Amino acid sequence: MSFFNELKRRNVFKVGIGYVLIAWLIAQVLELVFESFGTPDWAIKTMLVLLAAGFPIALFLAWAYELTPEGLKREHEVDRSQPITPQTIKKLKGANNAGKKLNSIIYRSRCKGVVNWDLVNSILSSSTENNPANGITGVLLATETHFLQVLEGEFEALNATFERISRDTRHDQVQLISFTEIEERKFGGWAMHGIGLFDLNRELATLLRSKFGEDNGNIRLPCTPSEVMELLNILIPELKLDETNK
Ligand SMILES: Cc1cc2nc3c(=O)[nH]c(=O)nc-3n(C[C@H](O)[C@H](O)[C@H](O)COP(=O)(O)O)c2cc1C
Repeated sequence: MSFFNELKRRNVFKVGIGYVLIAWLIAQVLELVFESFGTPDWAIKTMLVLLAAGFPIALFLAWAYELTPEGLKREHEVDRSQPITPQTIKKLKGANNAGKKLNSIIYRSRCKGVVNWDLVNSILSSSTENNPANGITGVLLATETHFLQVLEGEFEALNATFERISRDTRHDQVQLISFTEIEERKFGGWAMHGIGLFDLNRELATLLRSKFGEDNGNIRLPCTPSEVMELLNILIPELKLDETNK
């Protein structure tokens, strides 16, 4: 992930802009107050120096800490590979209970460059930032050359997310495998769970090659819903997915 993306993900830009705006507002108010009390010049200058000194501190705190629903946490304590927060899951379930239909999209696409963890992590970073707000959950599989993604959510949000992803220039040949209504989320605990099939242990890679075939030396990603469920059941057995994808 690039340094710029990392600054963005850690909200350093947002905090920086927010700080400047609030500091400017405080300076305006204090200037008015100081003027009416005839406060000496040095007091105004000290206040401006203090506000300026706070700027790098605010940026550092934004970089090092993250505000989570469980409170303020050190950035390295926030595990991005873990399920999204219980609060978000509750929200998602609430939306589900509100009577809106849930749908699931499965697609496969070809990556335009070589897939590696940098690329996968940068996609997961946008996903964990955008998906909770859109009520989207799912899983992203990546080989060295292809992606396979399952997205779940309410119809409109799901459609909009899929459309945005389809336009992403990092991949092409987006092939829809299924778009179905579902009773409940299968990946409800994940804003987007990433699995790098280019980085599996040898035993599992051999098993998947023998079951699903090879594509230029890589594990071939399946293109039928039942095969996709079979693959996911091998990779994430604890989910016990139903192969009919209902
Ligand atoms: C294979 C693939 C899967 C993606 N999955 C998601 C996703 O689940 N959610 C999402 O918001 N963006 C996803 N993206 C990224 C979007 O295409 C897009 O770059 C991003 O949403 C832009 O948001 P940002 O401006 O916040 O970075 C994916 C991209 C690719 C190539």
